Amino acid sequence: MCGIVGYIGEREAYPIILNGLKRLEYRGYDSAGVALYDGTHIQVSKTKGKVADLESRVASEISTQGKLGIGHTRWATHGVPNDINSHPHYSNSGDLVIIHNGIIENYASIKQELLNRGYTFTSDTDTEVLVNLIEEIKKQHNVKLGKAVQIALNQVVGAYAIALFDRNKPNEIVVAKLGSPLAIGMGDDEFFVASDATPFIEFTNNAIYLEDEEMAIISKRKGVKVRKIKDDSLVDPYIHELALNLEQIEKGGYDHFMLKEINEQPSVIKDTYRGRLLADRGIIKLGGLEDHIQKFLNADRIIIVACGTSWHAGLVAEYIFEDWARIPVEVEYASEFRYRNPVIGEKDVVIAISQSGETADTLAAIKLAKERGAFVYGVCNVVGSSISRETHSGTYTHAGPEIGVASTKAFTTQITVLTMIALRLANEKGTISKGDYMTHLRELEMIPSHVAEALKSEPNIKEIAHVFMDAANFLYLGRGYNFPVALEGALKLKEISYIHAEGYPAAEMKHGPIALIDEQMPVVVIAVNSNHYEKVVSNIEEIKARKGKIIAVVTEGDTVVRNLADYVMEVPRTPETLSPLVTTIPLQLLSYHIAVMLGKNVDQPRNLAKSVTVE
Ligand code: F6R
Repeated sequence: MCGIVGYIGEREAYPIILNGLKRLEYRGYDSAGVALYDGTHIQVSKTKGKVADLESRVASEISTQGKLGIGHTRWATHGVPNDINSHPHYSNSGDLVIIHNGIIENYASIKQELLNRGYTFTSDTDTEVLVNLIEEIKKQHNVKLGKAVQIALNQVVGAYAIALFDRNKPNEIVVAKLGSPLAIGMGDDEFFVASDATPFIEFTNNAIYLEDEEMAIISKRKGVKVRKIKDDSLVDPYIHELALNLEQIEKGGYDHFMLKEINEQPSVIKDTYRGRLLADRGIIKLGGLEDHIQKFLNADRIIIVACGTSWHAGLVAEYIFEDWARIPVEVEYASEFRYRNPVIGEKDVVIAISQSGETADTLAAIKLAKERGAFVYGVCNVVGSSISRETHSGTYTHAGPEIGVASTKAFTTQITVLTMIALRLANEKGTISKGDYMTHLRELEMIPSHVAEALKSEPNIKEIAHVFMDAANFLYLGRGYNFPVALEGALKLKEISYIHAEGYPAAEMKHGPIALIDEQMPVVVIAVNSNHYEKVVSNIEEIKARKGKIIAVVTEGDTVVRNLADYVMEVPRTPETLSPLVTTIPLQLLSYHIAVMLGKNVDQPRNLAKSVTVE
């Protein structure tokens, strides 16, 4: 995710763009930049860091004059965050300047063609490739900027919201959208462009939201002309009247970032496998894995190191890797691993999982594993983060910025990546049947819609939250693939509601925790269809016999557990192996609603930080 802003009109563009970038910083904050047209030249200033860093840099670097400009706040997808990879990007001639939110998937082949034609590139970004493709088309076809953009976008595969202008025609901005959002604010003889309406809400409450595969030429004199990218046909756009306040828009209308992020899961899981999972063709292709696959195939074992929620994702991965790829797996708290003189060999592969990519213990565990000769693979969300740089290779989760301190979408996207790696290895090793492999690829593609379905139970979950909001303790139980989900459910509840909660493998309950159960104790049991279903039913009976209150996560249509449990939260049917991706959803919602009902600061719980960069 990135944020884009643009302005064309009679006011000074820079303050509007700068303020807009500050409002869009929730969309990405690893680098920022602006391009302004001062009447003669395009002036660009950009930097790694936050919008505040850009602000100090602009002051000493460029004149802030100009009534046309574009700006960008970045969440890196191609190329680490640094000054050069920051947007805006110039074309080779310096005539065009562009900002982009999205991913151009076929950028490598386009780049090669442009290299063959003599183009040069200063950054590692797909965006610089796109602006030069537009420049090349403009020259080759001798067309105006808008037409060149339309032709170019018909050649690219991927997602984009772009804004660009031409220094030879500095009275218009061209914008286009596919997959990433783009709003155009309609003022009197002035126009605004942004990823959402927050940057222009005080100037106008009329906005056009471009649809996918639409582009617009925005000119001071001619207004906004919207066209279809495919066939160039004119579109009569709907002008929305905005009735939102700033805070609502940044949170996408949700009360908290955590709830927004929970609800983003169907789309971010798709982003995680987009271009990597081609179910119809039986292909899983992960950039970072391809060159190192032999290391995984020859590994004596895989050691997973992580902390907190990421450690729980690692536990799910342990089941998947062992089940499908038949590689022994150990999952370690990074904080323990780094200090206990672990036995690590050159044939061990270490996978480090981290949303932030900055967790100090995980980073130290990676360094230790590297010193002892292991190959280290990262699964991170933040592009260019310390862990992504410290590992030998890796896969990004592409979940977009996670702002709520309690991790939600990071967990499901980490599991999605680890599932793809396990399936790829199992297929390569022949430890999974062709049929099972193909079924799981197709089932993985269905997960976003199953998650969307699971989210629909929110009103029911809210009622359950209301019943149990005053409980002093909770127990979470699960078996097999859903044991880590029980741990994660308990962690979510304690960190945002401050209610004591413990997660346990359901069968372990009778070795101690069963002593806690009485009529005051809510027990959340994950009881979806699985090889252990009957065993879980027996565990539920044991809790009932001690008068515990049972809240069960069940597969839709379940009748047995429904009859036993006090409350149920239904999720769609999935293979057991993929079930953590959906069973975790009601548990996230349950903890969220309990915390809200208790009046807690859900997005910034006490004593916690989003990235734990100290031991
Ligand atoms: C829980 C949570 C933490 C993190 C842990 C690791 O909701 O957010 O437990 O999972 O601090 O952080 P990363 O994944 O950034 O290494």
